Amino acid sequence: MTMTSDAKAASLVETSMVDFVAGHPGLRYVFFGGKGGVGKTVMAGMNAVHLAQAGKRTLLASTNPVHSLSGLLDQDVFGKPTAVTGVGNLWAYEIDTHDAIERSKREIREKIQWFLKFAEISTKADEFVDAATMNPAFEESAMFENMVDLMFKDEYDVYVFDTAPTANARRLLGMSKVYGLWVEKMLKSREEAQSLREALSFTRKKEEEDPLMLYLVDFRERIRHAHELLTDPERTAFFFVTLPEALPIAVIRRFIDWFTDFGIPVGGVVVNMVIRPEAGEAAPDFVRNRIEMQSGYLDEIGERFPGQVRAVVPLFDSDIRGVESITRASGAIFG
Ligand SMILES: Nc1ncnc2c1ncn2[C@@H]1O[C@H](COP(=O)(O)OP(=O)(O)O)[C@@H](O)[C@H]1O
Ligand SMILES: [Mg+2]
Repeated sequence: MTMTSDAKAASLVETSMVDFVAGHPGLRYVFFGGKGGVGKTVMAGMNAVHLAQAGKRTLLASTNPVHSLSGLLDQDVFGKPTAVTGVGNLWAYEIDTHDAIERSKREIREKIQWFLKFAEISTKADEFVDAATMNPAFEESAMFENMVDLMFKDEYDVYVFDTAPTANARRLLGMSKVYGLWVEKMLKSREEAQSLREALSFTRKKEEEDPLMLYLVDFRERIRHAHELLTDPERTAFFFVTLPEALPIAVIRRFIDWFTDFGIPVGGVVVNMVIRPEAGEAAPDFVRNRIEMQSGYLDEIGERFPGQVRAVVPLFDSDIRGVESITRASGAIFG
């Protein structure tokens, strides 16, 4: 007889979520990634409740266009940070993605209009704006900007993001290097043009502020700052949620590799929906088969993510909805 899943589950966890959080007192930006449906929203909720109960002013925020925080909390938290009923220190916020995207479009339109005027190009801004905003990366980048805005505002001790920044954070941080070089080049050529014009002018008066230049400088600084926060292991941790199944494991393996390559701190792995072995005793074959299958994948998880498993969460007999239900379920992680 092999180890029961319960004992196996316990032996997988060297440094638990509780220990990890206790060992990172400066932790401020917590993220959950993984395949759809594995329990990211629930885990984000449990962690946010735990951090709030530990006395930290906590914001549980979602930048995912398909929101689920209101559903999880059983309370409308759309559009503005809203105090969560029944938990002190906790606010939740589903960002209005439509609004955020429209705002980004307006800003880009202004920049482009200004630039066309500056360069004395008599084309309408519309087609440039469309070209810049019609591609799917634009929405991701608008949402990323939103998340970064929240982080920079600095109004909470801890931010728990229920979002899918997993792929796009990686892409955007990768792009940030390219942006950085591009912005550098733009700035340099604009400085040259400016000093040339100043040298040629009789009055030698400084040119008026150049809004595009200011924008580029500001943009470069924002990217630098976001990169600094998101790569700081004292302040940031990405947790990856998986089930003891092939596909979700494959997904987080890939994510963890990417994140490690980018120097983004991986907080660890949470294994969710593990069927309690005692459930198998009088159960039909398919349940026992499932328990056996999970047991095999728990072994694989132990081998693939040594020392990185922070919690093994059982499959509960119903969905997790409402603060009471979250608190009860979070006993599985936080004791
Ligand atoms: N351990 C669990 N036991 C039972 N139901 C769970 C568990 N974890 C999550 N769920 C339920 O599974 C569904 C998907 O979880 P969710 O957190 O929304 O996933 P994700 O955000 O990764 O898409 C939800 O209905 C949630 O209540
Ligand atoms: Mg979700």
